[in-house]
Formats: sequence, C-alpha cells, structure tokens
Amino acid sequence: MAKNTDPVAVFDSGMGGISVLKEMANLMPEEDFIYLGDSKNAPYGTKTMDEVRSLTLSNIALLLDKYHAKAVAVACNTATSAAVRTLRKMYPTLPIVGVEPAIKPAVESGPHPRVLVMATPYTIHGEKFQRLKEVYEASSTIYPLPCPGLMEFVERGELYGPELEDFLHKLMDPWLEKGIDCIVLGCTHYPFVADTIQKIAGDEVTLFDGSLGTARELRRRIREAGLAGDPSHRGNVTFLNSTGDPGRIRLSRFLFYR
Ligand code: DGL
Repeated sequence: MAKNTDPVAVFDSGMGGISVLKEMANLMPEEDFIYLGDSKNAPYGTKTMDEVRSLTLSNIALLLDKYHAKAVAVACNTATSAAVRTLRKMYPTLPIVGVEPAIKPAVESGPHPRVLVMATPYTIHGEKFQRLKEVYEASSTIYPLPCPGLMEFVERGELYGPELEDFLHKLMDPWLEKGIDCIVLGCTHYPFVADTIQKIAGDEVTLFDGSLGTARELRRRIREAGLAGDPSHRGNVTFLNSTGDPGRIRLSRFLFYR
C-alpha cells in the first residue's frame, strides 16, 4: 500500500530526465524524488522496441520493489513510446506519467508554423509520433529530425563547445535553410543543450519542450490518488545510476543544480 511519505520515482535512459525532474521538484518541493538513469544501457533511442520495453519495465520494477515509489514518471520520450501503455496495464492503481514531444504548443504558436521536431530515431519512427504528426499536419508543416549521437554529448556533460556546434550544424543546417519557426525538443536530454541549439537556429526560432506540462500532470495524478506529500516537508532528491559510477552521480547533481 503506497504512503504519502513514499518517494516519486523518475526514470530515464540516462541524464536526460533530470530536465523533467527539475520542473517536478520546483512544482512539488514537498515531495521526495528518486531519480534513476540507466546510462549503462543508453542510448535507448537506437534500440528495438523489445529492448527498450524490457529495460524500462525492469528498471521501473526495481524502483517499485526496492524504493517503494508511490508514483512513476517515465521522463524519457523513447521509453514512454515503448512501454507506458504496458506499465499502466501492469500497475493500474499507480499514478504513472510519460512524456511526448511538445508539438501542440509549437503548432499553436502561429498561423501555419514550420516546426522542426528533434528526437531519437526510435521516437521519430514510432507509431505515437506518426499519429501526432498526422493530427497536426493540417495546421502546420512538421519536419521530423532524428538525432542519433546527440544524447551522448549530454551523457558526457559536454553542453557547449565547437564539437557540439559542428555536430548540430551538420544535423540542422539543411532544415534551417528551408526556414523554421519552432523547434520541439522531443528528447529529454536536449534541453541541456538548448543554448547551443538556439545559437545555431538563431533568436527568431522558438524552442519548446514538454517538461513543465509533464510535471503538472504528475502533480494532478498524485493529488487525485490522495498521495500528495505533507506541504511542510522539505523534499530531497536521490540520484541512482545503473553504471554505479560516482562520476555519473556527480554529473547528475551538476545538471540538476545548474
Ligand atoms: N532521453 C531519452 C528521450 O527522451 C532518450 C535518449 C536515448 O536514450 O536515446 O527520448
């Protein structure tokens, strides 16, 4: 039986979900959070559906069995597309939230915006994204851009610098030449390199990510389940990483507090 004092689990293939965790901890300072990054098995975005699903399910099982999480946030677009439906069937009473590319606010930002969606190959080729794209194509132009290799910069803690800029130029320039109004950061790692993406895209391009929306949805579900923490409690955040490497934990803290 879940208790109000139990922690909220936040999961990602690595460091990316910390961008979502930040919004959650800001919005719910009374909650304890336990963050698990599966950097040992990252990247997820170039794996098959079976691989991503089975890694996600076993990591969530660990967070529930060992850490007694009262709610789960799958702070990874790739893992959400592969496993969130299965998770909801397996744990019907558990508040579970996932993330998906924030296409809606981007599409609604102008009369017929040209929207570049940057995400992992898995997310871009997944059924969930293809459905979203079809829905919004009537009122906008959607350019999907798979970005294999980009999450690795964040995993290394390389958030700025010439190598990252070269990498992004190669990836983005052909699309920027077409004319882009908005960029959707459809992978939770990418907000950590948002400054560099903005620099390459130029100030007239608006960036969108779904972290705040996901944090609000989590708060709503926790309240609905009657599991909100005591408002007078000062919550803490515990970081875990599947590599067991203390350097990964240091990087997690750096990304969380920067
Ligand atoms: N952070 C993950 C996402 O939001 C994926 C990165 C990866 O493991 O490829 O999709």
